[in-house]
Amino acid sequence: MVTRNELIEKYLKFFKSKKHKEIPNSSLIPENDPTALFISAGMHPLVPYLLGQPHPQGKRLVNIQKCIRTTDIEEVGDEYHHTFFEMVGNWSLNDYWKKQAIEYSIEFLTKVLKISKNKISITCFKGNKDAKKDTESANIWDSLGIKKIKFLGKKDNWWGPTGKTGPCGPDTEMFVNNVEIWNDVFMEYNKDSKGNYIPAKQKNIDTGMGVERTLAILNDFEDNYLTEIWKPLINQIEKLSKKTYGKDKEITKFMRIIADHIKASVFILAENILPSNTEQGYVLRRLIRRATRYGNKLKIKNFTKQIAEPVFSIYSDYTELKNKNKILQELEKEEEKFLRTLEKGLNRFSKLTKNKKNLSGKDSFLLYQSFGFPIEMIEEECKKNKIKFSKKEFEKEVSRHQIISRTATEGRFKSGLADDSEKTTRLHTATHLLITALRKVLKNKNIIQRGSNITAERLRLDFSFPRKITQEELKKIEDLVNNQIKKSCNIIKKEMSPQEAKKQGALGIFDKKYKDKVYVYCIEDFSKEICAGPHVKNTCELGKFKILKEQSSSEGVRRIKAVLT
Ligand code: ALA
Repeated sequence: MVTRNELIEKYLKFFKSKKHKEIPNSSLIPENDPTALFISAGMHPLVPYLLGQPHPQGKRLVNIQKCIRTTDIEEVGDEYHHTFFEMVGNWSLNDYWKKQAIEYSIEFLTKVLKISKNKISITCFKGNKDAKKDTESANIWDSLGIKKIKFLGKKDNWWGPTGKTGPCGPDTEMFVNNVEIWNDVFMEYNKDSKGNYIPAKQKNIDTGMGVERTLAILNDFEDNYLTEIWKPLINQIEKLSKKTYGKDKEITKFMRIIADHIKASVFILAENILPSNTEQGYVLRRLIRRATRYGNKLKIKNFTKQIAEPVFSIYSDYTELKNKNKILQELEKEEEKFLRTLEKGLNRFSKLTKNKKNLSGKDSFLLYQSFGFPIEMIEEECKKNKIKFSKKEFEKEVSRHQIISRTATEGRFKSGLADDSEKTTRLHTATHLLITALRKVLKNKNIIQRGSNITAERLRLDFSFPRKITQEELKKIEDLVNNQIKKSCNIIKKEMSPQEAKKQGALGIFDKKYKDKVYVYCIEDFSKEICAGPHVKNTCELGKFKILKEQSSSEGVRRIKAVLT
């Protein structure tokens, strides 16, 4: 048997012997990419270096990277799709090119992993209007004794960019017994915001080998879930449900989904993300709820914790999993919460569909938004009750709401401001001081704005924070804001890209809603925040800041009302 640790060790050792430097396994939450929620490949944290910035460790890099792919959530259930997976990869930043990359790949596969050449087949890019047919790679493979070579189109043999723009190029994929396990990407293009493929200034090699798939191949399994990194979770599900894995097709599929979603949830929770209705938190919520739902189908309840348990021993090398108790607690909390809304939601579903043949887009959106029903659950309930349901209408409703909330957030101060009077402008600036003061006094960098509403009389700020704030802390926050007011700080507006704003540490909600350019308002070096304005010119215009009330707004979100006198 080959273990996960052995495979990873072999990979790192091999490339280190070829003068590659090992770089850290990055956080699952991208630091440099406001267009993505999760790291989806080993190259993802390396984008600045693939674009030309020199990497401190040099031109040859190797690592093991944890990844999450949310586009695959619906595909989970077969033998080899996973939401959370690990990827080993090696990179050449403007160093070696195709021949060397392919030679390393074949040497590792045949000499180190001892896979025989006749089990290996290859695909190469067949060419299109953007890039020519990759006969060069095919010839290299052929010269190395690999004869099963196919040319495929962009769908199969092109990789990247991870977001809308960035490095990308044709790739050559390696299959063992018809399972794709490794991908060598030749990053010679940059996709620009207009969709053009521009030849890159720097040519890079980006490779990625799927740990789960390779492990299955090396151990002669046709199902990743039978390997040591999945089986313990499956065993738990079998034990709780008293059903056998691999017997019934549907039950097997449910078991895989549960195991997959719980493992991914554990790793997302380990990043200090909590279930919520936005961004990473929403993905997490969806995963836990789907797992809970599929658990229900196997007639198990209150189970997520027990299935998560083995994850901590399988991945004992991840220090972020040390927070085991907290992770398990949050998992359980969300499961319980869903079970409560599930019942209410099912009741509502019956009411909404009573004597009806259809479930409208609006009603299905309500079930989704207010009762946290995953889409497939709405579909299933409809099917069971012979109610027509149009996914299209539902999606239309979702995007309508996204547009509403996007416009609301983009112009959040425009809509938040009752008028443009001097008073509201002053309160608006005070809100910026307040959010920074909260982060400083409560020593919590995860505090972000969840909502703002400003009238001429008062400001109201909702922000993420898990507990009540003490009187003493409130006093300190108030004092800190008043100090900045007394210091007569200038407020400077700067225009920059969202990436630059993030790099400079500006506060903001870094998702796709930002356009190419944003305004960052800087209150000397105290506060930096992305915002549309308007603001006063100097904090001395604010007067005295006073907090009126601190209360809970929703779970994990606190609300402060404050005035300027
Ligand atoms: N970035 C490439 C992939 O994920 C290697 O397949």
